[in-house]
Amino acid sequence: MIELAFSILASDFAHLADEVAAAERGGGTIVHVDVMDGHFVPNITFGPPMVKALRPVTKLPLDCHLMVENPDAFIPAFAEAGANMVSVQQEVCRHLHRTLQLIEQHKMKPGVVINPATPVDTLIEVLPMVHYVLVMSVNPGFGGQKFLPLALEKIAYLAALRKEMGLGFRIEVDGGVAHDTVARVVEAGADMLVAGSAIFSPKKTEQNARKFLKVARAAAPEQN
Ligand code: DX5
Ligand code: ZN
Repeated sequence: MIELAFSILASDFAHLADEVAAAERGGGTIVHVDVMDGHFVPNITFGPPMVKALRPVTKLPLDCHLMVENPDAFIPAFAEAGANMVSVQQEVCRHLHRTLQLIEQHKMKPGVVINPATPVDTLIEVLPMVHYVLVMSVNPGFGGQKFLPLALEKIAYLAALRKEMGLGFRIEVDGGVAHDTVARVVEAGADMLVAGSAIFSPKKTEQNARKFLKVARAAAPEQN
């Protein structure tokens, strides 16, 4: 199933509940929450209190993308705040297997993220324990960057590995995914599509989401 995980990083924070509602009306089914610590990435965003504030305003799953140096220290707080899915960056996890177990123990769906420079092969051992793999198609830290086509091969390779290993993890893609790039990522095998700047825009959020999903689903007719 093709899903839009809309990134609230591009939304109007002063009207967050309305922004989420508009993206949801347009067909978005996952709220993507970009957590940045100013260390792993050169930007600071929000943390568990934002998740806690969002929890009562939507029934959609909250997908927290942790771009932080020490995710283990924050996993319990995200669980407590009401997160449903948590992904951690492979690059910061010295004990990735343990971190993924920790997410699972807190009753959230574990995901792992790889930056553009990180090879898919670094994940092979943990693929059986993840609910999703997030392939970054920009270097993390900011919304509105240009899509890096090198992500396409990585998505296709993950889809092939999933088949070969008989697994069911989902493939998420994040960064520069917009109306003009989404067809290629869906064709490569991604099914959870993160998009921020392509979706949020004053008065146009709902129609942007609807159009984005239309283009995405047309690229994967058998999955409609
Ligand atoms: C980048 C974040 C993304 C970002 C995507 O570090 O992980 O989720 O919000 O934004 P767009 O869709 O604008 O590239
Ligand atoms: Zn993200």
